[in-house]
Amino acid sequence: MGKVYVFDHPLIQHKLTYIRDKNTGTKEFRELVDEVAGLMAFEITRDLPLEEVEVETPVTHAKSKVLAGKKLGLVPILRAGLGMVDGILKLIPAAKVGHVGLYRDPETLKPVEYYVKLPSDIEERELIVLDPMLATGGSASEAITSLKKRGAKNIKLMCMIAAPEGVEIVKEEHPDVDIYLAALDEKLNEKGYIVPGLGDAGDRLFGTK
Ligand code: PRP
Ligand code: URA
Repeated sequence: MGKVYVFDHPLIQHKLTYIRDKNTGTKEFRELVDEVAGLMAFEITRDLPLEEVEVETPVTHAKSKVLAGKKLGLVPILRAGLGMVDGILKLIPAAKVGHVGLYRDPETLKPVEYYVKLPSDIEERELIVLDPMLATGGSASEAITSLKKRGAKNIKLMCMIAAPEGVEIVKEEHPDVDIYLAALDEKLNEKGYIVPGLGDAGDRLFGTK
């Protein structure tokens, strides 16, 4: 069964408070999402494989370590997942980026896929699926299914805020996928919004409504 990690790092929790705040405007919201994504990525990438290399320092030769294997793949779920990409690329600039376009039908709350473009060799890469919100879990689960259909084998899911319902769906449908969160909230409301949540992540990031 996939594990669920909630990052309680004080910097993540502090920034998340201002992300939730309805008085935080688009510019600041974007900056905070970017920063939290970077901080979460720092924690998630703890187990990336390393290999030893020789490096010449100004003083002598040293054995030191660099990341090994295929470059990591980031897969934001459009639109709101895009807000998490740059903060991670600041730390891992060589990561490849794929995109999965999904929107949630407002009536049925079911995800509708409209775009998929992925890096090559995804079966050999570790992929991190990015979406600020894990609500019913339909979008994340569908995105992961879409990646697996195309050969992906090693997938992590990184969301800022989740509802228990969404976590359960992903655990059930994708028991091989670990989930990384900044907060696990209380519930979904009748419109499928996370409570207390942060509202509509895409609208707040892109200034739409
Ligand atoms: C939001 C959010 C997730 C999805 C979560 O996207 O960014 O992708 O809803 O809901 P779920 O867990 O119930 O599927 P939305 O469908 O609003 O699309 P957008 O990012 O294009 O605005
Ligand atoms: N999508 C959002 O952007 N926010 C929610 O609370 C649920 C789904």
